Amino acid sequence: CRTSLLKGKKVIVTAGGTREPIDPVRFIGNHSSGRMGFAIAKAAAFAGADVTLVAGSNDHLKTPAGVARRIDVGSTNDMKAAVDSYYDDCDLVIKSAAVADYRSAHPAANKIKKSDETLTLTMAKNPDILYGLGQRKAHQVLIGFAAETTNLIEYGTAKLKKKNLDMLVANDVSAEGAGFQGTTNIATFLFPDGSMEKLEKMDKEDLAAVIVERAAAILAKKNQ
Ligand code: C5P
Repeated sequence: CRTSLLKGKKVIVTAGGTREPIDPVRFIGNHSSGRMGFAIAKAAAFAGADVTLVAGSNDHLKTPAGVARRIDVGSTNDMKAAVDSYYDDCDLVIKSAAVADYRSAHPAANKIKKSDETLTLTMAKNPDILYGLGQRKAHQVLIGFAAETTNLIEYGTAKLKKKNLDMLVANDVSAEGAGFQGTTNIATFLFPDGSMEKLEKMDKEDLAAVIVERAAAILAKKNQ
């Protein structure tokens, strides 16, 4: 049901995967369905927030009711430009998007024709959007995601620190009922004071509601 947990707060949610062009008809992408991020955008809007949903490869997903604006993006650089342009006066960023770490260094202007038995692509490192936000964090609350297949807590804790986050949602994408596809997820929340909260397997919609509750509590504490 509708609450006022985030009433008057400006929230950016990123969702889905990025697409890095190789040529005009091909891209490098990932399996992110966008469901987690769309569920978070919906939950934040229900909690009264002014939500900007920056969506990657999710053309098939309908914009949730109450979301103030949706910006569809392709590449990581496009996502960065959209997020950066709303960052300064926003209160909370929840970055659930699966961002490509590398892009084709020189996307071809025309469709690449098949010829040799092998094709070598040179990749260039993408900017880490969330790391950049963490570097210039002022009043904002930053929540990141970490999808891992091993050493979940160790890698998650390292990301929380490196990216200067207020909370990290870590999930083992190799576990049954968790991760990119599907409607459920199994998450562990990590916090900067070293505490953690392990959640049971739950619907992404329910997990989104819990994430919004924790985010609102962190915001309230910061603004005390
Ligand atoms: O890819 P990684 O595990 O480092 O992602 C952790 C968090 O950082 C996620 O919230 C993701 O959206 C964000 N990220 C980003 N820009 C990147 C890579 C990751 O904002 N280039």
